[in-house]
Amino acid sequence: MWSNLPLFPPQASTIAGQIDLLFAFIALVCGFFATLIFILVLTFAVIYRRRPDTATPQPIHGSVRLEILWTVIPLVLAMVMFAWGANLFFTMASPPADALEISVVGKQWMWKFQHPEGPREINELHIPVGRPIRLIMASEDVIHSVYVPAFRTKMDAVPGRYTSTWFEATQIGNFHLFCAEYCGNAHAGMIGRVVVITPSEYEQWLSGGSKDESPVVAGERLFQQLGCSTCHRADTGGRGPALEGLFGQTQRLQSGESVVVDETYVRESILTPNAKIAVGYQPVMPTFQGQVSEEGLLHLIAYIRSLSSVRKER
Ligand code: CUA
Repeated sequence: MWSNLPLFPPQASTIAGQIDLLFAFIALVCGFFATLIFILVLTFAVIYRRRPDTATPQPIHGSVRLEILWTVIPLVLAMVMFAWGANLFFTMASPPADALEISVVGKQWMWKFQHPEGPREINELHIPVGRPIRLIMASEDVIHSVYVPAFRTKMDAVPGRYTSTWFEATQIGNFHLFCAEYCGNAHAGMIGRVVVITPSEYEQWLSGGSKDESPVVAGERLFQQLGCSTCHRADTGGRGPALEGLFGQTQRLQSGESVVVDETYVRESILTPNAKIAVGYQPVMPTFQGQVSEEGLLHLIAYIRSLSSVRKER
């Protein structure tokens, strides 16, 4: 509906049309009331202008009917916006289970992507059309923000934690990729493109691309190198929790609380191991702060996750 309006980028994802519709609704409601108020201000200014020949005007003591009217109508409109917006937000916050997971690391001033099969890219992201893509995002320095206007996708990459978002492209082509959070001198140059291709072209691209190790393989190598395997294997006497089947489960903690074993918890356990100790274990693990890069952390997480599911393994 906006295709010939240069203000709007193409609608190239499953969510884009719905976001534009909500945006149009809110803009129309605001425009309607802004116009109404403007006209009423002008009209009343004329009708109730000061007249030299009249004495004090009749005082008005309020109108219950009018007050109910101008309370209920805005309430209903605001609730429609809230429910509609929240519904869209939840859709955008819950990626489908079969989404292709691509890791994203933002740094001054570039975007680094890695596909589950291994290939890496910088400032360019190749994805297959018609397949949900989940981005797992981290930052090496300051806050950045992945912004693909054609997908109506924008999500911050925040140092010290993971964020994630997802989208499904519906059109083949090249689309702008921006950093949408001011991140220093070359922020404006932190741009790239998303290349949407057919699934078979994507398979070809994967096999023809760089021969990087997959994150799972790289993670397993790092797991050995850093000596994680001396404590975290099922057969190592239980100094640390065995990691097989752990990812995605709920872990009870010594503090009595429990935590879902997700990307953020694994990351925290590597960098600040004593923050949340699993029940039944001693706080004996050293920190790996400064020894593992953001990409290394993502690889370790990919490996640990692969110990729990066959789905992610290729
Ligand atoms: Cu990265 Cu702005």
